[in-house]
Amino acid sequence: MVVPAPTGAKDWSSFDLRPSDGYVRPDGAPATASNPRMVDTVRTETELRALTGIKWNRDPNDVIPAWVADMDLPPPDFAVNAVTDLAERGDFGYSRHAVGRLPESFCRWQARYHRWEPEVDQVVLFNDVLHAIVHAIWLHTDPGDGIVLLTPIYPPFINVIEGAGRRVVDVPLDPDGWRLDPERLAAAIDETTSVILLCNPHNPTGRVLDGPEREAIARVVEEHDLLLISDEVWGDLTHPGAVHVPMATVGSDVGRRMITISSASKAFNLAGLRCAVAHIGSPQLAARFDALPPHFLGAVGTPGAEAALRCWTEGHEWLADTRSYLTDRRDQLAKRVEEDLPGVGFQTPEATYLAWLDFNGLGLDREPQEWFFDNARVALSPGPDFGPHGAGFVRINTATSPELLDTIIDRMATAVADR
Ligand SMILES: Cc1ncc(COP(=O)(O)O)c(C=O)c1O
Repeated sequence: MVVPAPTGAKDWSSFDLRPSDGYVRPDGAPATASNPRMVDTVRTETELRALTGIKWNRDPNDVIPAWVADMDLPPPDFAVNAVTDLAERGDFGYSRHAVGRLPESFCRWQARYHRWEPEVDQVVLFNDVLHAIVHAIWLHTDPGDGIVLLTPIYPPFINVIEGAGRRVVDVPLDPDGWRLDPERLAAAIDETTSVILLCNPHNPTGRVLDGPEREAIARVVEEHDLLLISDEVWGDLTHPGAVHVPMATVGSDVGRRMITISSASKAFNLAGLRCAVAHIGSPQLAARFDALPPHFLGAVGTPGAEAALRCWTEGHEWLADTRSYLTDRRDQLAKRVEEDLPGVGFQTPEATYLAWLDFNGLGLDREPQEWFFDNARVALSPGPDFGPHGAGFVRINTATSPELLDTIIDRMATAVADR
């Protein structure tokens, strides 16, 4: 359903939430229009290395990580408080407080930011985005079925499809702009194809599908009676000028042929809290979920649900700041690649804090991820993991401090110059 205005048509005034404590900048000044940035306290390298997450722990201490999609920014205070409040109260019993409110907060957020008004009673909670994707695939498809991926693509999509005994139907994006070729998509579908698994905004290229691309996908879904699984976890992290449009709002029918999956995890840096939502618009798929045995899906943990609820009710200013911070880092990377990494392919991402870099023109003697790991002590994501056309590429994560991003590029540029 498309709503005419960002606030949506529904009366959300009955929405019952705990009042916000408000956000105060670390320097003590309240965030205001004239003093807006709340995220300028990116953690130092020492602080980052003290965290338990995989980003800063997988590799030796002389390596700077820019691979897995976690941000080096601290998560917002209101999300941290959601967890510490529970801990301080020892409030770890069975709880419906956030779990019960999260579907409505998700719908309200989508209406406000993306002009989509999902049905609250069609929202189901999952432990994480991939949890929802693997269930949708498992319930809707048979072994051997084809599932379309627009490659290069977030590697777990490939792993989930192949691990479930289904088949990847590879539809490569056009490397000149990473756009979808509608004819290529239409030609890839045969009678064994049952799903399109979409990532929009797109990981790793940062593309945001435009109107003709969205309509081409919707057309193919309708013509071939496919299920559309749309992973929109990056939808809140668009850069200026790009607009994320949920696939559920495209055309009149596609919403009933799809499942949309999202989470506060990417925009608010909460991946370890494990909490995601899925809007199951397809009645057939919803019936299959309903037919699962009780407790089959498990239940999300209270800390993740409480934190996500805070984000989708109090996260407006923090997100605005974070988006502008991430756009600065994207622009920093663009400038540095142009000036210091000549011959490297870079197409400006429209969303995410990722970028897809093409080193094929440099004639490195190995995959660039490996080469830079050894020669620059920088950890990037290897291109071949993103599908059959990823050789010679790496994905870089730019959600760090300007200083660390400069150090990463300095190290890479020096290694290339010294080779
Ligand atoms: C497109 C996409 N989907 C899903 C995920 C993972 O989400 P989760 O940890 O909630 O499964 C990521 C993580 O980077 C991602 O980029």
